[in-house]
Amino acid sequence: MCGIIGYIGKEKCLPKIIHGLEALEYRGYDSAGIAYIENNNLKIIKEKGKIVNLKKLLDFETPSYLGIGHTRWATHGKANKTNAHPHSVGKFTIVHNGIIENYSELKTELVKAGYKFKSETDTEVACAMLDFIYKSEKDILKTLNKASNIFRGSYALGIICSDDDNTLYALRNTSPLIIATSENGNFIASDVPAILKFTNKYLLLNDHEIAKITANNITVYNQNLKEVKKEIKTFTGNLDAAKKDGYEHFMLKEIFEQKQVFQDTINYYFDGTIDSLAKNFEFLKKFQKFDIVACGSAYHAGLIAKSLLEEYANIPVNVEIASEYRYKKCFYDKDTLVILISQSGETADTLAALNKAKNDGITTLAIVNVLESSIARSADHIIYTKAGCEIAVATTKAYLSQLAVFSLLSIYLGYQNKIIKDEELKNIFTDLKNMPNLIEKTLDNANIYFNIGDKIYKNKQIFFMGRGIDYAIAMEASLKLKEISYINSVAYQAGELKHGTISLIDKNTPVIAIATDKNLIEKTISNIKEVKARGAYVIFVSNIVPSEKFYDEFIEVINIHPILESILTIIPLQLLAYKVAKDNNCDIDKPRNLAKSVTVE
Ligand code: AGP
Repeated sequence: MCGIIGYIGKEKCLPKIIHGLEALEYRGYDSAGIAYIENNNLKIIKEKGKIVNLKKLLDFETPSYLGIGHTRWATHGKANKTNAHPHSVGKFTIVHNGIIENYSELKTELVKAGYKFKSETDTEVACAMLDFIYKSEKDILKTLNKASNIFRGSYALGIICSDDDNTLYALRNTSPLIIATSENGNFIASDVPAILKFTNKYLLLNDHEIAKITANNITVYNQNLKEVKKEIKTFTGNLDAAKKDGYEHFMLKEIFEQKQVFQDTINYYFDGTIDSLAKNFEFLKKFQKFDIVACGSAYHAGLIAKSLLEEYANIPVNVEIASEYRYKKCFYDKDTLVILISQSGETADTLAALNKAKNDGITTLAIVNVLESSIARSADHIIYTKAGCEIAVATTKAYLSQLAVFSLLSIYLGYQNKIIKDEELKNIFTDLKNMPNLIEKTLDNANIYFNIGDKIYKNKQIFFMGRGIDYAIAMEASLKLKEISYINSVAYQAGELKHGTISLIDKNTPVIAIATDKNLIEKTISNIKEVKARGAYVIFVSNIVPSEKFYDEFIEVINIHPILESILTIIPLQLLAYKVAKDNNCDIDKPRNLAKSVTVE
């Protein structure tokens, strides 16, 4: 995610802004920039890459007392100097964290009004829109208020207007933004770490509120431009806790970010109409079959994709582990699309598999989370997930964002291939709209899953099982558990246990059985009874509340259209894995032996 810092006060601003940006580096970024007022002139300095590149260009003794700074995690447009923030258009200069979903239609309107754009970003469009509105409103607060009703999506904006360069403005919707106050001046920031060195006193800006900040005063206005009184809070944690937004681990923070990640990913490609999916995914129509190639959790996302695409789009899908695929004989042809899934976009085996397909003249699609990553740059087509920067080594929100993308692809291709009819499409769209709330409801039940984790964390082996798509979910849930808790865990096809591995079941061996596919649930229940009869401690995970108690613990998954169900099913299992690892005092964010991106064979 991007990082924002702004300062206005009686001390020089550049050292404070750079310190704030350095405190936000943990959020991940690919460029940085700063805008400041010196003798009534606006200066902007920005660079691709690390903050150290910016510092070389700055004189910290510059007599400037108002400035805004930004670290950019690229979402629209390459990671380069032109796209780096701040962006300045006419009288306005801004830094932005979030995604302006309607930037494309706003850009069309602004181009017609004569605006020209240098960057590929939604932020420059937002800045131009402020300038455009201001030309008629001639009042900064009214301009910001009007813009807040025009912009759709998530945004936290730090704003300087050249007509009032003794004031720093801020505006937000969904993306986090705090306003901090100290005896030497006032700050805006994406979150507390950026300002903790200077003050621990801050207030929270609510959605659509505007802050007007001078060296000695902070005024907050609501959507009716009426002043609102804000409580000044005191942050009592340390820097490390602040970086995790108060969560104990980045992994837990990222699990709880999944509602927003789902929203950002879906809204980036889908505006509620099948036409928006067609606009983004039409190139897929010409392929008859898919080879999905990936590693680890991305491979597990591919298995989910296989279930959905085969079931709802009637497209044959082959899913392969990249380190195998890159060396094997492949039976692909011009009708095959090779899809590479990778959160980091740098996994060596996946990149090698991509290059193999390209060398054989096969069309490739990359589904990645990091803009301009090696895999993104090499593929013929790219679909970005919108998970933001994922810090914990064990992926959660990026994996969920991959599932969200494949749900959209399955919906689009299912409708194109006339498998999904109008009535079902309408139901799916309704469920899509409800998903953020259902994700939130699932997350609200975290303590249920934590309590179950407390009962099984001492075990040396924990098994998962499922059939069909539930087996794919079981594989991801098992990987989550073993990679952060170091407990041996295996996911089995439920029907396969009796062919050998059931010998591993001993008294109280935990077996987490997943059954959300209504066509297979009875079969899975039979398999559960087989392991129960041999002493297993069964945790049943399902969207159907069973009438009979053949289990020891039950995790209810909210029932929704199967094309989306796996997204709700994985969340309790992520939280269960987290709690088992926490109870075992494991290094959850940086498990032993693991790297966030495996750039070697
Ligand atoms: C995720 O929890 C794992 N740590 C790991 O398996 C990961 O999914 C795999 O290395 C692939 O990474 P990528 O998505 O960046 O290509």
